[in-house]
Amino acid sequence: MDSDDPLPASARWLPPDAFHGQRAFVTGGGTGLGLEISRGLAALGAHVTIASRSTEHHAGFLEEATRKGWSAEAVVLDVREDPEVRSRLQEFVNRHGGIDLLVNNAAGNFVCPAERLSHNAWRAVLGIVLDGTFSCSKYAGRHMIAAGGGAMLNVVATYAWTGMPGVVHSASAKAGVLAMTRTLAAEWAQHGVRVNAIAPGPFHSEGAQGNLWPDPAVEQRMRAKVPMGRFGNTDEVAAQCLHLLSGASEYVTGECLVIDGGLSLAPGRMWEPGERLQRRRRTSEESAAEDSTGESAS
Ligand code: COA
Repeated sequence: MDSDDPLPASARWLPPDAFHGQRAFVTGGGTGLGLEISRGLAALGAHVTIASRSTEHHAGFLEEATRKGWSAEAVVLDVREDPEVRSRLQEFVNRHGGIDLLVNNAAGNFVCPAERLSHNAWRAVLGIVLDGTFSCSKYAGRHMIAAGGGAMLNVVATYAWTGMPGVVHSASAKAGVLAMTRTLAAEWAQHGVRVNAIAPGPFHSEGAQGNLWPDPAVEQRMRAKVPMGRFGNTDEVAAQCLHLLSGASEYVTGECLVIDGGLSLAPGRMWEPGERLQRRRRTSEESAAEDSTGESAS
């Protein structure tokens, strides 16, 4: 991320007024993917409130917003605390007159063998990811329904359906959020409220790096399995989030967009690491043979 660029990389694909006048609430919006989404929304005209537990995570976004003239603010919130969520969202609506966009990005994760995971650890991750997403959706949803519409974006992961050793807490919670996405989409479509999700594969972000692949050897092994041969960048993932939140996706709801460089297409190592399909030019003899028989010679 280069915070001196006038336009964040994630925001280059939509018109400059894509979110003009819209009011967005982004949980975990001060770091990693949440920050990149917040920057993109603000650069494209939205008012953005970031919500996270630590004020340390607020400073970077607020400083950039001041420098670039974005409309932004930050609130302290632990999404596990349902009454807190209700109050922060009510205050947001009181201040701004409504809410158009909700991004449920706050998450907690670490690798731990399931048989050693304590109840508190399980609860911590389920509380943030599953309970937190529901509380935010419910209270923001009430306001959106009353106003006649809005859009929500949830962050899940491909391991919500493939499973992954070491993250039973996060995978279980994300699977719940995926079901929640589809259920709320079906339930609230009649009110004009769209609910979509993204499922990123591995991408570069400080949080994921520290929590999920602190060991370079693990990172290397994972990278080798990605058909596109690399991890994603945060701005590439954020760009898809902005697209799903924007008017470009007005008829899309209940969708979960996989952003993984093709990783989920290669379960069980169907492709060897680094292998690519090579297209070969046909020789003139092969072309002639095909012309005479009507069949491909290759
Ligand atoms: N391995 C095993 N258990 C762990 C752990 C780890 N790496 N990290 C935390 N825990 C356990 C704690 O030991 C505690 O359980 P215990 O009381 O039985 O000992 C429980 O999880 C809660 O931890 P605590 O630190 O008190 O909770 P918290 O609410 O402050 O932290 C977490 C929440 C656990 C999700 C924390 O990892 C976190 O905040 N992470 C940063 C955000 C993040 O992970 N983002 C996702 C990036 S992919």
